[in-house]
Amino acid sequence: MNRYTEIAREMRSAISQRDRADHCIRVARCAELLAMRHGLDAARARTAGMLHDLGRLWSASRLLEEAARRNYPVDDFERRNPIVLHAPLGAMLASERFAVRDSEIADAVAAHTLGAAQMSPLARVLYLADALEPKRNFAERGQLWELAMQDLDAAMYATLERTVAYSRSRGYEIAPRTKAALDTFSHMKGKVSTVSTH
Ligand SMILES: [Fe+2]
Ligand SMILES: [Fe+2]
Repeated sequence: MNRYTEIAREMRSAISQRDRADHCIRVARCAELLAMRHGLDAARARTAGMLHDLGRLWSASRLLEEAARRNYPVDDFERRNPIVLHAPLGAMLASERFAVRDSEIADAVAAHTLGAAQMSPLARVLYLADALEPKRNFAERGQLWELAMQDLDAAMYATLERTVAYSRSRGYEIAPRTKAALDTFSHMKGKVSTVSTH
C-alpha cells in the first residue's frame, strides 16, 4: 500500500465523521488538480488536502485546551473564534499523528482557514481547494474554480475578497490574517474585474 493510500485510510479513522472525511478527500483531489495544472508537487498537495481538517471536529473548548497544551500562542481573534484554531492544530496533528514533517505542508495547513500574509504556492493551492471544492455551495464557486485553474494569485484575490464581503454582510469579524492575505494579493485586483462576485 503506498503512503497516500495509507494516509487516506488513517485520516478516515482519525476523522470519524463521514461528511468531513469526504470533504478531505475532495480537497485532496482538488489540490492535486491545481498542483498539476500549475507545475507543483501533486503528492504534497494531495497530502496537505487529506490532512488539512484533522482538528476540525474538536469543540471550541477542546481546541483552546489543545492549543495551550502545545504552547501555541493563541491570539485575540483566535480566542474569540476558537474554531479557526483547527488550522494550526491540524498542522501539528499531521506531524504528531501522521509523521508528516514537511514544513511547507504544515504552513499550508496552518493557513487554510484564514490565509496569511505570506503563502507559498502550496498554501495557495490548499486554500483554494478547501474554499472551492465541488460541494461548496455558493454561486461563484464554479467561476472561481476556473480562475484558480488559470491563475492562482488572481483566484486568491477573488476568493479572499468574496470571503471578506460575505463575512461583512453577516456581521462577522474579519481576521487580521485574512486582511493581510487580501492585501498580499491586492495587485491582482485588475485581473479579476471580469469575475462576477455577486
Ligand atoms: Fe478547515
Ligand atoms: Fe476544510
